[in-house]
Amino acid sequence: MTPEAERMTSLPAAGGGRLLTLTVGPPAAGGTFVARHEGRVVFVRGTAPGETITARLLDDPEEKANARFWRAEAVDVLEAGVDRVPSVWEEAAADGVGGAEWAHIALPAQRRIASEVLQELLRRAGVSSFPIEQVQVEPASHDVDGLGWRTRVRFAVDADGRVGMRGWRSHDVRDVGENPLAARAIRELRLGEWTAPEGTEAIDAVAPSAGPASVVLIGRDLDPEAVVVPEAWGEADVSVRTSRGLVPLRGDGTVHERVGERLFTVAATGFWQSHRRAAEMLGEVVESTLGAPRGGSAWDLYGGVGLFAAVAAEQVGPDGTVITVEGNRRASQLAGENLEDLPQVSTATADVTDWVKARRGGVDAVVLDPPRSGAGAELMELLAAAVRQRIVYVSCEPSTLARDLAAIEKKGWRVVDLRAFDLFPHTHHIESVALLEPAGA
Ligand SMILES: C[S@@+](CC[C@H](N)C(=O)[O-])C[C@H]1O[C@@H](n2cnc3c(N)ncnc32)[C@H](O)[C@@H]1O
Repeated sequence: MTPEAERMTSLPAAGGGRLLTLTVGPPAAGGTFVARHEGRVVFVRGTAPGETITARLLDDPEEKANARFWRAEAVDVLEAGVDRVPSVWEEAAADGVGGAEWAHIALPAQRRIASEVLQELLRRAGVSSFPIEQVQVEPASHDVDGLGWRTRVRFAVDADGRVGMRGWRSHDVRDVGENPLAARAIRELRLGEWTAPEGTEAIDAVAPSAGPASVVLIGRDLDPEAVVVPEAWGEADVSVRTSRGLVPLRGDGTVHERVGERLFTVAATGFWQSHRRAAEMLGEVVESTLGAPRGGSAWDLYGGVGLFAAVAAEQVGPDGTVITVEGNRRASQLAGENLEDLPQVSTATADVTDWVKARRGGVDAVVLDPPRSGAGAELMELLAAAVRQRIVYVSCEPSTLARDLAAIEKKGWRVVDLRAFDLFPHTHHIESVALLEPAGA
């Protein structure tokens, strides 16, 4: 038995759920694996293919007697699978913190499993213009162990001011231990050892690629004057976000990110790609696929603070036009400031679908990077009609990507390339980039 399995054996069946012995089969979406109990599908967290485990049911079998499936969590490994390794984050095991549900699976196996899940989602959605079996999740460049990558961490705080993270499917705050997925600058803040002032509900910690780390204490009625900054935070910027807005105590409530020669300013609680290599890697992939023509036009949809608009602007050159469309007012304003040396770029603060719907005339190339909910069929259909040459779709949620690719295929477009990246190691999340062209091109 592995040390991890031994540790799990000693865990009580917390919550009193019924225990089942299960043999684990293929992966399912959401980081779980499929097992069967008396013919019923059970989605199990905390296991790996080929294992025999004791699992604690998360559903009440009497209440859910007619349900098509049950959910369970592995609490003991009776026979470990070949992919199991000692967990890189013990606190993420059964009944522990969420956000590292594959920490007990070898990194190459995580990528193999993620590739299987992605391929299955594409197949089920009916994506047919690309050889799906070729899609394999690639590691991020220079990432050997999948640790220390997360540059943005949201900590939870309990009523006693104890700082940790929420448990998986639970509101309880759990100890984060060494927090090994977090970037070093975040681990060095030692937030798990700190007691937050009364009224703190959450803490956003950021380890940007340029300049100091940032800590934002969040609480509706938090009193900024009650915050005593501990020594462990060193030079970190500190802000408090209450229902009345952001109060910077140190710094100005922004962080800085460097990609190549360009510096981006991002709100301390705003969106930026989380893996420390992601912005650079995705920028390179967009650069090599978008192919916006010199003097032509491009849209950067769901543009954030302008990461991909900068790439498109270089391609179209000073005589071209790029419009970056973003719903968050602050992010849109920062995009304008970040790219003010590129007069070919303009910003629009709007809902992307509404904006594209209201737009007259077409565009040569589009990059879009929607949130997990994806673009949706309506937007894909609008883009199929408006875009003349290429669409690059950057996605952090393969199920909505698959749905959206199938929708645009129906409008006469095809998937020319599809790459996937392990930008969330030790979790089931996958980043993908699809290149699309009109089928006749
Ligand atoms: C995954 S992020 C991508 C940001 C940017 N492309 C980057 O890589 O930094 C998605 C962005 O879409 C924005 N967003 C979400 N829903 C939106 C909508 N319906 N319309 C416009 N922007 C939206 C979010 O505020 C966020 O900045």
